[in-house]
Amino acid sequence: MYVCLCYGVTDTHIREAVTAQGVCSMRQLRQTLGVAGQCGQCGKHAHCILKECLQELPDYKHTARDLPVLQRGLISEATL
Ligand code: FES
Repeated sequence: MYVCLCYGVTDTHIREAVTAQGVCSMRQLRQTLGVAGQCGQCGKHAHCILKECLQELPDYKHTARDLPVLQRGLISEATL
């Protein structure tokens, strides 16, 4: 399913970026795929998929340091 229409990014692209390229923040996702880098309409949905993917990783440990990164992605993904 398309998540970002501006850059033609699908949920599969996001999942591959997380698992194959180690993307773990909205900033990295934008730098890698362009997500939320133009109109920003895709930011919340992309963040949900990113968070879901990270939580599915076998060695993912939710630490206090991760939370601000994820929250920052939600709050200001269009401006990061
Ligand atoms: S839909 Fe993703 S930047 Fe516009």
